[in-house]
Amino acid sequence: MIVTLKTILGLADAKKIAIGAFNVAELEGIQSVLGAAEELGQPVIIQFVPIHEEYIKMETLGPIMVMMADKAAVPVCVHLDHCSDFDTIKRALDMGFSSVMYDGSMLSFEENAANTKAAVEIASGYGASVEAEIGAMDSEDGAAADNCYTEPDEAEKFVKLTGIDALACSFGTVHGLYKAEPKLDFPRIKEIRDKIGIPIVMHGGSGVSDEDFKKCIANGVRKINYYTYRAKKGGEYVKKKCMETEGPVFFHDITCWAREVMTEDVGHAMEVFSGISGK
Ligand code: 13P
Repeated sequence: MIVTLKTILGLADAKKIAIGAFNVAELEGIQSVLGAAEELGQPVIIQFVPIHEEYIKMETLGPIMVMMADKAAVPVCVHLDHCSDFDTIKRALDMGFSSVMYDGSMLSFEENAANTKAAVEIASGYGASVEAEIGAMDSEDGAAADNCYTEPDEAEKFVKLTGIDALACSFGTVHGLYKAEPKLDFPRIKEIRDKIGIPIVMHGGSGVSDEDFKKCIANGVRKINYYTYRAKKGGEYVKKKCMETEGPVFFHDITCWAREVMTEDVGHAMEVFSGISGK
């Protein structure tokens, strides 16, 4: 069944766990994530990011995400990731997404807050939730720059001004592949969480160790965005299987191999985020 981000993160808060937010850019991604979530009985977030429209249009994948989330046996939030365009936000909400991220992190504090507040007003008309971001998580060299970490006082002011449901913060993670081991600022997470009183979102989950995930969750992270390693595992496994296979490889073989290994990868992430592993 489809639930909002506010509802699903409320479940996470009650148990002091994090919910995996998995970007999907293909049918096998949705099947892997929902398959693993149903197998483990865990709530989950599936999200679409507009930059993936170079692989598949939101108009194509979005309705499939909504339909499959609706039929799932676990609570599923269907979320729009990193979007700074109000028209795209409205299209996602019209399609049935239950949550959106307005990303104004590249703007001034004032502009980001004003636009985020406008996004909250739009989403509330649909009964949907909003995530926003201050601080930055992208870097040229695969490591977080010192000057882009989220300031706790700014975070507190931002949440009060906007009325958002979750805040993406910068504390040492970056999107994509890391070139250096991530150095996460755990006390900063706790300080921000204590000040803002709403769930913190970690972006750039790929490449963070299981131990570091657990420390982030203990300090207040409740949503973990994860994509690159799932996609890389799927691709590498397919490459290996193609090389090992004698005779023809059919396209349906590729989708089945990818689904098999990606379900495993996502399932492991869910076990770590939900505290099932290491109990
Ligand atoms: P990774 O691709 O680094 O896991 O990050 C995903 C993400 O943060 C999407 O917003």
